[in-house]
Amino acid sequence: MLSKAMEKALNEQLNAELYSAYLYLSMAAWFESQNLPGFATWMRIQNREETGHAMKFFGFVTERRGRVTLQAIEAPAKDWKSPLAAFEAALEHEQYITGRIGELVNLAIKEKDHATNAFLQWFVNEQVEEEASVDKIVQKLKMAEKAPGALLMLDHELGKRT
Ligand SMILES: [Fe+2]
Ligand SMILES: [Fe+2]
Repeated sequence: MLSKAMEKALNEQLNAELYSAYLYLSMAAWFESQNLPGFATWMRIQNREETGHAMKFFGFVTERRGRVTLQAIEAPAKDWKSPLAAFEAALEHEQYITGRIGELVNLAIKEKDHATNAFLQWFVNEQVEEEASVDKIVQKLKMAEKAPGALLMLDHELGKRT
């Protein structure tokens, strides 16, 4: 059985994952408005992944006989000043989420809740991957700033994400 504090913290993370999904969907809409459909495709897929993360929390809380309670999802930003600015915001957001996952692990350890700790380890590893994949695109966008045509090539490349 989950403690009340753990249940609350997991529900808050479910909300944070839904916010992540919402943020990336907003970025997808922005990239579409900038005529960069490949970047938009990448963000659409990111949106789906984040929804999947939220559903993992939904499933785990339910399985542990906790109660899932849904809160309002904050409205995300809708404009960024460049593709680089959008991806830098995405990286900053992923770093924030990594910090939150770390806090959840700390709570699980404090409560000696081994099942929740084990569940959270998937997210610990996932965040390493998430930060690395976003950072890679940030670095490419920095290089693209100095090379005309590079942005369109990158758009083509990111559009191949499945
Ligand atoms: Fe996530
Ligand atoms: Fe993420």
